[in-house]
Amino acid sequence: MTTVTRRVAPTPEDSTAVRFPQNFTWGTATAAYQIEGAATADGRTPSIWDTYSHTPGRVRNGDTGDVATDHYHRWREDVEIMADLGVSAYRFSLSWSRVQPTGRGPAVQKGLDFYRALTDALLEKGIEPVVTLYHWDLPQHLEDAGGWPERVTADRFADYATLAARALGDRVKTWTTLNEPWCSAFLGYGSGVHAPGRTDPVAALRAAHHLNLAHGKAVQALRAELPSSARASITLNIHHVRALTESAEDVDAARRIDALANRVFTGPQLEGRYPQDLLQDTAGLTDWSFVRDGDLAEIHQPLDFLGVNYYTPTLVSAATAGASHGSDGHGQSEHSPWPGAEVAFHRPEGSTTAMGWAVDPSGLYDLLLRLKADFPAMPLMITENGAAFDDYVNPEGEVVDPERIAYLRGHLSAVHRAIKDGVDVRGYFLWSLLDNFEWGYGYSKRFGAVYVDYPTGRRIPKASARWYADVARTGLLPD
Ligand code: NOJ
Repeated sequence: MTTVTRRVAPTPEDSTAVRFPQNFTWGTATAAYQIEGAATADGRTPSIWDTYSHTPGRVRNGDTGDVATDHYHRWREDVEIMADLGVSAYRFSLSWSRVQPTGRGPAVQKGLDFYRALTDALLEKGIEPVVTLYHWDLPQHLEDAGGWPERVTADRFADYATLAARALGDRVKTWTTLNEPWCSAFLGYGSGVHAPGRTDPVAALRAAHHLNLAHGKAVQALRAELPSSARASITLNIHHVRALTESAEDVDAARRIDALANRVFTGPQLEGRYPQDLLQDTAGLTDWSFVRDGDLAEIHQPLDFLGVNYYTPTLVSAATAGASHGSDGHGQSEHSPWPGAEVAFHRPEGSTTAMGWAVDPSGLYDLLLRLKADFPAMPLMITENGAAFDDYVNPEGEVVDPERIAYLRGHLSAVHRAIKDGVDVRGYFLWSLLDNFEWGYGYSKRFGAVYVDYPTGRRIPKASARWYADVARTGLLPD
């Protein structure tokens, strides 16, 4: 068993320390395919990520989630680690194909038992379970039937939400329908750097709509099954889009990307409509006739909070002849994840993480202020924030990661400043509890507060884990 040793933390009297609200939620986050492993155990069938990662050339070093961090077998130890960290909440996702292997029909008891036992262990330690229904791992059976570009997938998702709520609703109070549907739609069906690896811009737009519909149907399914005190939410990777210059062309490029990254989801989900400019920008590709009468009302469901994942800002300009198209930070592909948008991406100045993403906490502050301006009544939760660095175990057996501590400190002080300026941020989940399978990058990128030695599965809390434990325990951000 690994124990986190406590450092001396600032006292409440320490006037220079930044203090978070008393009831602020401090959590860590993971996702099923990234940590569980046990890919064929207890009736689980392949998801699109199993298929994709087993396809040569798709994932760096040919890595797969077959074993991952072996959380399916080591979850007790992982709960102990969280208890040592002193976090008040744990955000994790259910593997759909572990719960309902073909994506239809009854649930598999063993799959449900796993999540029930995990949840009970968390509750025993006073850690609130926060369940995400979908973190990108569609059962392969449903992809074979057309996947997210097809409407039927939204109906399947609502049925699965009902099963999950019936099985866990007595112990899980906080639910999230989808994690980052932008990635599912535009990386999965547009640029193809995520599963299922399709590269069709119209399929990507259709997928975005059916993910919106799936969200709306799932919220209704959850509300029908759960007590009225339960909370329903969605997590979006709202891009903080900045224009490279103030020229009309660059500002328009930023507007287009904001529509395709953000408002394609917040529009229908939070306002009950697709933005006019998005429909116009994509008119050359589709007339959006896949949006049927009544869909928008179904999608536009009251939510208890909006989950926000933030890592880095997005810097955009018009695509001018000779300008490098750069990378949008979402992986390399000759196919764009931005249907109909001819723009160029630029790397913001300053230091970067091992993902090549710029470290810029001001992007998080600006994003939170914008969300307050756009959706004043919506409580926010930072459902992911964190950084990958090239961590290693030193000869003393420790993992010392000052860059991650600096990253977390910077972003937490941005959150604190936003709260002080009136934004209703209820909590923060560090991505991630453990090093894990970082999608197309496999195990080459380490986001964990806890280091995982993959050959043995051994967990080693990094220096940042001890730092975060102090922050979570005291609610104070040391200098
Ligand atoms: C967002 C995703 O939700 C998560 O799965 C991923 O590992 C992190 N970003 C880091 O890229």
